[in-house]
Amino acid sequence: MANIAVLTSGGDSPGMNAAVMSVARAANMMGMNLIGIKRGYNGLIGKSEKLEDDIVHLSLDQILDIADLPGTFLRTARCKEFQLDEYQNKAVKLLRELDVQGMVVIGGDGSFKGAQALARKGVPTIGIPGTIDNDLGYTELSLGFDTAVNVCMEAVRAIRATSRSHDRAAVVEVMGRNCGDIALYTALSTGSEIVIVPEIQGWDVEDIAHRLEALVERGNRRATLVVAEGAYKTMAPFDPYRFLKPLGGKPVFDGQPMDSILLARTLEAKTNGKAEVRATVIGYTQRGSQPSSRDAAFAFEAGVIAVNLLRHGESNRAIGVHNGKVFHMDIDSALQIKPSFNRRMYNMVNAL
Ligand code: ADP
Ligand code: F6P
Repeated sequence: MANIAVLTSGGDSPGMNAAVMSVARAANMMGMNLIGIKRGYNGLIGKSEKLEDDIVHLSLDQILDIADLPGTFLRTARCKEFQLDEYQNKAVKLLRELDVQGMVVIGGDGSFKGAQALARKGVPTIGIPGTIDNDLGYTELSLGFDTAVNVCMEAVRAIRATSRSHDRAAVVEVMGRNCGDIALYTALSTGSEIVIVPEIQGWDVEDIAHRLEALVERGNRRATLVVAEGAYKTMAPFDPYRFLKPLGGKPVFDGQPMDSILLARTLEAKTNGKAEVRATVIGYTQRGSQPSSRDAAFAFEAGVIAVNLLRHGESNRAIGVHNGKVFHMDIDSALQIKPSFNRRMYNMVNAL
């Protein structure tokens, strides 16, 4: 096998560059050329209309320069068209023209569906999980998750310092799309008092307010509530405008969905001023940070395994972590496994 290609797709995640570096070093060691596909599947379908904007020949020297950086040097994108057979065929044609005999796809479950499609069309393809959300059920860890939790942990520690100084409670919103893992592990690693996640259908704002009030009555006026961004989708119906007094300044339109700032205001009102509550949305710092040692080490191992699998003629394999060890399995079966939320840990955080 003389030429292989690599792409990153979906939301970027810390560790993607480290994985590309590892693929590049392993390919170099095994005498293969490495082609980088730019902007996920966009590059494979020739979206930019200029081949030099879609593909890049990756020299080892160039790759070693970016290995430790967050983000993805290859760029990433969400490419709707790639779900269609017509565009997948276009990608296979390009790969044949470039004489590419194997692909490494780094991304989340959507990206893995694209990898599955390429494998089905005869392009040997290996998937490395890269998403901060940790929403791939077959693996305990996806690249970027550990880093995102570390960023959130540092942020919560800083927020708690100022909350403590003012005897205030804090609502801290973290990412994760429909997965509550970043919220749960941030709460666990900071000893936060309340965690709210999308996996709990019909969670109730009134109940959260009661719990916050009870914490204040027990002498804790600086509780931290970690909220996963996706949690507002599974909240029980609740209309904060029934009792919130209008704020000065910009009017909000009726029926605006709940968000973290509104939740903080609601909790203040619902606890009858017993709790003073401020909100922070941590946002993209979770995705754009330097990879943690755990993510970087997994990226390194996964990259080497991916190239080895291709060299041995394997295809349609997803690399992951099980019981702390890196392993690989069939992508079709991997995608069938639903993410399992750790209820025991969730109950532990919320019980105290
Ligand atoms: P992630 O990979 O992080 O889950 P997305 O869900 O946005 O991110 O998916 C990334 C990309 O994977 C999509 O933009 C699309 O190009 C490709 N993709 C998603 N679903 C499919 C599918 N069913 N078939 C082929 N490609 C897909
Ligand atoms: O999938 C990674 C992620 O950061 C999610 O946590 C978040 O919901 C989403 O991507 C944000 O996407 P965008 O980059 O389009 O804002």
